[in-house]
Amino acid sequence: MCGITGYVGSRRDAGSLVLEGIKNLEYRGYDSWGIAWKVGESMEVRKDIGKISHLDPAAFGSSSSLAIAHTRWATHGGVTRENAHPHLSCDGTIAVIHNGIVENYQELRDELLNKGHRFLSETDTEVVAHLVEEKMKQTPDFGAAFRKACLRCEGRNAFLALHTQSQTMVAARTGSPLIVGVGSDGYFIASDSPAFLAHTRTVQYIDDGEMAVTDGRSILFYDIATGEERTKREIEITWITEQAEKGNYAHFMLKEIMDQKKSVARAVNQDEEQIRTIAKAIKNAKGTILTACGTAHKACMAAEYFFSVIADKHVNVISAGEFKLYNHFLIPDTLVIVVSQSGETADVLEAMRIAKAKGSKVLAIVNVQSSTIAREADFSLPINAGQERAVASTKALTGQLAILLLIVYALAGKLQEGKKLLLETASAINDLLNPRYVERLQHLAEILKNKENLYIIGRSWNYPMALESAIKIQEVSYIHAEGFAGGELKHGPIALIETGTPCIVLAGNDEATPDILSNATQLKARGAFLIGLAPERNEIFDEWIRVPDVGAAQAIVNIIPIQVLAYFLAVQRGKDPDMPRNLAKSVTVK
Ligand code: AGP
Repeated sequence: MCGITGYVGSRRDAGSLVLEGIKNLEYRGYDSWGIAWKVGESMEVRKDIGKISHLDPAAFGSSSSLAIAHTRWATHGGVTRENAHPHLSCDGTIAVIHNGIVENYQELRDELLNKGHRFLSETDTEVVAHLVEEKMKQTPDFGAAFRKACLRCEGRNAFLALHTQSQTMVAARTGSPLIVGVGSDGYFIASDSPAFLAHTRTVQYIDDGEMAVTDGRSILFYDIATGEERTKREIEITWITEQAEKGNYAHFMLKEIMDQKKSVARAVNQDEEQIRTIAKAIKNAKGTILTACGTAHKACMAAEYFFSVIADKHVNVISAGEFKLYNHFLIPDTLVIVVSQSGETADVLEAMRIAKAKGSKVLAIVNVQSSTIAREADFSLPINAGQERAVASTKALTGQLAILLLIVYALAGKLQEGKKLLLETASAINDLLNPRYVERLQHLAEILKNKENLYIIGRSWNYPMALESAIKIQEVSYIHAEGFAGGELKHGPIALIETGTPCIVLAGNDEATPDILSNATQLKARGAFLIGLAPERNEIFDEWIRVPDVGAAQAIVNIIPIQVLAYFLAVQRGKDPDMPRNLAKSVTVK
């Protein structure tokens, strides 16, 4: 996934505008960066590998009114300066930036090479710049030529391009997000609204199969396939997108973990009538399927236990990447619940569209309310976590768990009981995240930071949290961490245990507790170094991390010390917890 942004209008600081904007999208990819701006009749381009956070916007694009900027997460072509976007046409008048994959780029590249075009990179993106240049030989209008070029490109993409001669910016969306910011002195186009929210909250959405053409004075929208003009409403972004700033924290990840002192209560603060309606829809549905990816998928797995234990309801959970294999089960009376922080994850988007094509209703539980999933679902519940910039999802996860648990209590006819438990849990989290507790976890990270392997076990809703613990630790510290169901240990994984092998035990005070403590004893008997994460100390624990006893909400509190531990493991191992290698905040490519 990459970050895209551009500006055209009457301002003369377009370069610094877009560089400032792209810094707010750096969480979308940070292998390399690039910017192109028009000066007089010519184009200036700067690009390099590495992060853009250190760049001074003032150094770019002064006295320019047309600029685009990009931050890359490499898919086609290695992480090199040559492969960084933007990519130019042979005559240097067209610059293109891109998010997605042009599946048929090799065929197009060969065709263009035969026509004399010369390529400077290994990327699929560069093909588009030359393709538009080729189309302009027959179709001089930049927008029209761009549309013809898009019709040749296969795959899920978002393109943004500028043409110096016509002082025009063109955007096209065929699967990856794009949004227009309507400024008082020009137009912004970006992958996500944080790129321009400092300048305008008035937006227009570009939907899949559409493109936009603007010269800064006006903007026109078209259907890519037919060329027909489309009209678009201007919408005010009213929800609080607290412009995530690190403030006094060293990293966004720690800030967002600490945001959970307040964000869980915000997640619980839903429209009760809507929660009851959703519960009724689940009750009446002929099958309810939860689907998501990564951390959000683990929230769905935990919810499967919530539904069973609290509401005596059978639901299915499917990883969104596998969803299409189950599409024969979908009927119009199936209810599909998609869960996503970004609302742009390609596999989740595909799952939702498969479900809708079969006539099933879709509920989305999403953090980014301007996202594609939030807009295309039949109804959508906001997680209200505030902007989540660190790649590791933390406050969005606890928000997802809280909302799912609230729905389950409503389904069981106990909405107020559920709300009371969750608000008590939110308050317990607020108390838990105190400096002394954080310091305790920092100390534990010192003990574990040089370990090669780290295992986490849990039962019931703590089993999905054992899997989520592994994701958190893996993705920011690069330690090999694995989560197991307690009951599975004796069927293989216990062979991994040697003297001193660190094992974290996730427990609560519920019917699964005696069994998970028994599993912990078996680990201990084989020499494991046991870290107990439980409401009570136990003599088998070598280290004990206290968590409040919050009953059915235990999964929500148990994951929080793990988030803090993962953060310190990363920092103590010299890694950047906000931008871990090989990962992106939202996986908008399959
Ligand atoms: C979580 O820490 C990971 N960054 C990743 O697993 C993430 O949860 C997954 O890609 C799903 O993202 P989404 O919630 O935005 O759909």
